[in-house]
Amino acid sequence: MQTSITESTFGHMPDGRPVTEYTLTNVNGMIVKILNLGGVITEIHVPDRDGKLADVNCSFDDVASYLGDSQYFGALIGRYGNRIANASFTLDGQQYQLDANNGANHLHGGLEGFHRRLWTAETFVTPKSAGLILSYLSADGEQGYPGNLETTVIYELRADNELRIAFHAITDQATPVNLTNHAYFNLAAGGDILGHELTIHADHYTPIDDVQIPLGDLPPVAGTPFDFRSAQAIGARIDADDEQIRNGFGYDHNFVLAKKAEGALELAARVREPVSGRVLEVWTQEPGIQFYSGNFLGDSVKGKGRIYGHRSAFCLEPQHFPDSPNQPAFPSTILRPGEEYTTVMAYKFTTG
Ligand code: BGC
Repeated sequence: MQTSITESTFGHMPDGRPVTEYTLTNVNGMIVKILNLGGVITEIHVPDRDGKLADVNCSFDDVASYLGDSQYFGALIGRYGNRIANASFTLDGQQYQLDANNGANHLHGGLEGFHRRLWTAETFVTPKSAGLILSYLSADGEQGYPGNLETTVIYELRADNELRIAFHAITDQATPVNLTNHAYFNLAAGGDILGHELTIHADHYTPIDDVQIPLGDLPPVAGTPFDFRSAQAIGARIDADDEQIRNGFGYDHNFVLAKKAEGALELAARVREPVSGRVLEVWTQEPGIQFYSGNFLGDSVKGKGRIYGHRSAFCLEPQHFPDSPNQPAFPSTILRPGEEYTTVMAYKFTTG
């Protein structure tokens, strides 16, 4: 098998611009498909322990679904992953009002966030990888954010069954930035994800109120349903009699990663599906990771001839902590002119 990248037309934007789907293949025959619309990952075909490929990524069949209530399937998220309370923050003495698209709060960059934008795409092939360079200029004032933000995201499918995602951004005014990818996975390619076994390298997490805004403290996971320091079935404690589980309708929480070195690319989480033996590792340089157990999926969410029912997929989204622009004790998410925002994450597939 040779490393390759090909392209085809997936559909069209309402204004007629074509949406292109890029197919990346590596030397093992692993296949990843990505759109220039929202940088959406539409397919990820990886082997089980017998070498049988299946598509472990959840996606829709058409452009209209991605421009509707897409639940951020597979997409690049920006300018700010997760929530900003009351869709507002104060920076350098000035208050900014963002698009409120989640009750009173701002979620994943707003209704017209990066996930709905058509990105400029360039492809590359090296002896060991196939990739896509996506660029998007987020204009000053877009969704309420200050400054023109020039964003580049590089997707690279490597020979070792790793999909690496490198983010870069620069700005001409101070602005919050917190970019990630929002792929939904089901390593069995069907059914629910309650039997998947999850490990998260986190000793602490950020509890939330009943509209999923962090309370600001970082309590230990020890003795709670949030202790994934050793592998646990996702379903084992998902309906526990626990206020945090109730506030998240299951798991919908940011975990504080136990980093060996700040800013290093380290293993954050591992998920193993025991029947197929497929394993997903999520690597990141970020200080946190959102574990979302697909609580808001339901029978009306359909794609690829399947219904994406309640808890039929999970997301592990590397990120800075939610609501950081309003939480002075959290690591800063402010990017200033002259600085460069860079962060690398990876989805790596093995079996076990
Ligand atoms: C959030 C969930 C939200 C979901 C959107 C996750 O990152 O934490 O609360 O419903 O994205 O599909």
